[in-house]
Amino acid sequence: MTGTGEIAGENGTQRDPTDPQEAIDAETTARTTERDSRIGKRTAGEIQEGVPFIGAGPGDPGLLTVTGRELVESADLVVHAGSLVNSELLDSYCADAEQVNSVGKELEELVPLMRDAFEAGRTVVRLHSGDPAIYGAALEQMDALEHEGVPTYLVPGVTSAFAASATLRTQLTLNGVANHVAFTRPRGRTLAPEEDHIGEFVAMGDVTTCVYLGTHAVGETMDRLLEADHDPDTPVAVVYHASWPDEDVIEGTIETIGERVAEAGYRASALVVIGDAARKASYERSYLYGDWANRSGSAEGKADD
Ligand SMILES: C[S@@+](CC[C@H](N)C(=O)[O-])C[C@H]1O[C@@H](n2cnc3c(N)ncnc32)[C@H](O)[C@@H]1O
Repeated sequence: MTGTGEIAGENGTQRDPTDPQEAIDAETTARTTERDSRIGKRTAGEIQEGVPFIGAGPGDPGLLTVTGRELVESADLVVHAGSLVNSELLDSYCADAEQVNSVGKELEELVPLMRDAFEAGRTVVRLHSGDPAIYGAALEQMDALEHEGVPTYLVPGVTSAFAASATLRTQLTLNGVANHVAFTRPRGRTLAPEEDHIGEFVAMGDVTTCVYLGTHAVGETMDRLLEADHDPDTPVAVVYHASWPDEDVIEGTIETIGERVAEAGYRASALVVIGDAARKASYERSYLYGDWANRSGSAEGKADD
């Protein structure tokens, strides 16, 4: 947005080294005084100028959006999120493109890589797993690129909680059972114990709690819920590799699921769904397809689907 990082060296080809944090700070400050002029002018489904940050979906190549596929198919350089992006998708849609796995690479390497390719006239796409808006760390790359004068935009994808929900053949919100959904993660290196709110979401009762990045810690998470006196019979489903050929579902309760996941040996790539919706427990018909929606004045019921 600010593009202040475009500094050429004496020979006109050198660039200042990218300091991503400085770029993020500058972009963040700029946003407090100046609204991004693209907001409201571009729709989320629109192909725009610049580097798209695309949600690859949960794994099955069929769950990449039509726009995402079009962009990936036309790319010269695809920077992707490693093992979380199904290699079948890469093989099917961009086998001829240069493919770079972003796992283990720092922003200081990734940003110049994408910037230089874009400035050289190559078509660059950044492929995140699921939807980039959920635990995707897309914004820091976008801000760093924007700061270097490279426009970016987001193309949404199917987040893994939605794939897990479909696998479980349920809804994350379910009338009379779950009125809210929480996308969350457990404490760990990134999250301090006081920032872990899983217990609070579960205590609310009518929340479906979708735990990302917690496969390795299912047992510990459940132990903490038990210690805090949550109902041990609360349903929990763990969906490993939702939508992949080796997808697996482990079902249980707060009391039993830890041991079952440990037996299965999964340490990553699973979505933990806590709450009655995971088991499609006795829900009530909604008002949507009933008399209530047809009464005059119930615009909300008529409009929602
Ligand atoms: C770094 S986060 C990325 C989430 C991603 N942006 C999304 O919207 O799904 C990685 C976590 O997402 C979850 N995840 C990603 N793909 C998954 C899949 N196919 N099935 C189940 N969980 C998945 C796992 O909890 C994993 O630890």
